[in-house]
Amino acid sequence: MKRISELQLGFADAENYKRRENKELLNKLFIRNEYLDKLCDYAVSFLVGEKGTGKTAYSVYLSNNNYKDNLARVRYIRETEYQKFVTLKTEKHLTLSDYTSIWKVIVCLLLSQQVKERESENAMFPIFKRFTALQSAIDEYYMNAFSPEIAQAMQLVQESRLAAELISKHAKASGEEKEVFTFTESRFQNNLFYILRKFQEALSQVKVENNYILFIDGIDIRPSSIPFADYTDCIKGLANAIWELNNDFFPSIKGSRGRLRVVLLIRPDIFESLGLQNQNTKIRDNSVFLDWRTEYKSHRSSHLFKVIDHILEFQQLDRFPLGKTWDNYFPWNSQNLRESYEYPTSFINFIRWSYYRPRDIITMLDLLQEEVVSVDKDRTAFMPEDFDNPSFARKYSNYLLGEVKDHLLFYYTQEEYGLFLKFFQFLDGQDNFTYERYLAAFADLADYIATTSKPAPQFMATANEFLQFLYDLNVVCYIEKTSDAGNFIHWCFRDRNYSNISPKVKTECTYEVFYGLAKALNVGKVFTDRPARAQRKPKLPSAPKRTRGAS
Ligand SMILES: Nc1ncnc2c1ncn2[C@@H]1O[C@H](COP(=O)(O)OP(=O)(O)OP(=O)(O)O)[C@@H](O)[C@H]1O
Ligand SMILES: [Mg+2]
Repeated sequence: MKRISELQLGFADAENYKRRENKELLNKLFIRNEYLDKLCDYAVSFLVGEKGTGKTAYSVYLSNNNYKDNLARVRYIRETEYQKFVTLKTEKHLTLSDYTSIWKVIVCLLLSQQVKERESENAMFPIFKRFTALQSAIDEYYMNAFSPEIAQAMQLVQESRLAAELISKHAKASGEEKEVFTFTESRFQNNLFYILRKFQEALSQVKVENNYILFIDGIDIRPSSIPFADYTDCIKGLANAIWELNNDFFPSIKGSRGRLRVVLLIRPDIFESLGLQNQNTKIRDNSVFLDWRTEYKSHRSSHLFKVIDHILEFQQLDRFPLGKTWDNYFPWNSQNLRESYEYPTSFINFIRWSYYRPRDIITMLDLLQEEVVSVDKDRTAFMPEDFDNPSFARKYSNYLLGEVKDHLLFYYTQEEYGLFLKFFQFLDGQDNFTYERYLAAFADLADYIATTSKPAPQFMATANEFLQFLYDLNVVCYIEKTSDAGNFIHWCFRDRNYSNISPKVKTECTYEVFYGLAKALNVGKVFTDRPARAQRKPKLPSAPKRTRGAS
């Protein structure tokens, strides 16, 4: 098998696979499992998963391949698009339902473009008069230079009067309408409805051979310039538009072999914060939830192990059965395991340090490779000691903290993130602490905040809210004692499932900071030069009431 220095581990962020030169690599290392098949189900509108669980990877894989007659495309929302929404909102006094209509127009425009590009070889196609008339209007509007991006599609919405007039002109020219309508700038909603109606009429007429999926990615990053409330309105409108189109409009198109569909890539906490109707059933029946959890005992047959073993295996000159390549590079056992196993258990080291997300493991492999190769280019296997390398531990810990930060900045400001970090200083290096010790550290934090001119962020309003927050972020777990004096450890990501999407933390337990994060948060080594703290009741300056998030 290849030397460690020759291994190509791919990218930890699947956005890289969108680039033409990396498509082939994704095709080789991607594992087609049941999530991929479920994603092809017409009922699915949401692809839900924590950071680094593969949302982008699945959508990019489908857009690079014609898998089971599905032709897919991924589109990203970027900061400028949100900016346009905010401007439109102020100029045109938009409501949530207007947001929904705008998104419907954008989605229909992007999908109709996908359809046009692929189905134009279909001999039946030119007879769809309404569709061709609409396309002529689009061509005229964009001067034949429409590139199917959300930003371009938004432009049509912004100039709704002009767009509606062109559509009407071409409808008349094709004999579809008797007269050309006039539109005014001030009646934005009316223009929008007209445009949407024409799109729906046109799409209702076409008979598509393939299934078309439009994936929308990039909603989990809120640009700091966009206020939280505006941001959630915008994505709420998008989620509603997707739901209505997928459930009411697209299935009503008769006589097609294929189906049109739009799928939103979204994190579970953001999905929950949207407050959609019947959220629980939507996540169960209309989502693919990327869940890589496994047990130590059965990890060898898990999806997670298969994905990682395959990344090592696909690049070898010979083919090997599941686990063989892994065992070659990691031929040792994890320590402190109670059960016995019939194969090396080194993978458990990786699960212990991760949140069971493919990105965590790929990042660990990457960092280990970097460290090993820097001292020995000819090594052929990793050793348990490589995990003890402080440089590896520090870099991996910083990676994990970076992921927490990205997650947090969706809701909060950079300054508030600073306060979150500050809390750990008050633990004096302890990574395992009781509820009382937690309260004391929280009280110290409250004292500290009182010395600043800012109110406490909403997630720090009370000690228990902050504890819940730390648990939601998977920064701490809580440990319950069992009747036989054992420990029952609860992590949010492990307790979360379809029916319990946001599990709750328990008070009066023992808590532990996530092992992998300890280095970056400077806990795990107790500081002896500080006085012991007395137990105190925490008191915080009251924060102004507001919904989760900041502007
Ligand atoms: N089925 C699979 N086969 C091979 N690799 C996979 C598979 N699923 C996920 N991965 C890998 O997992 C890593 C993380 O995936 P990705 O970047 O898609 O996560 P994400 O959910 O989009 O995260 P974020 O929310 O941060 O954008 C990538 O390296 C990707 O290749
Ligand atoms: Mg992604």
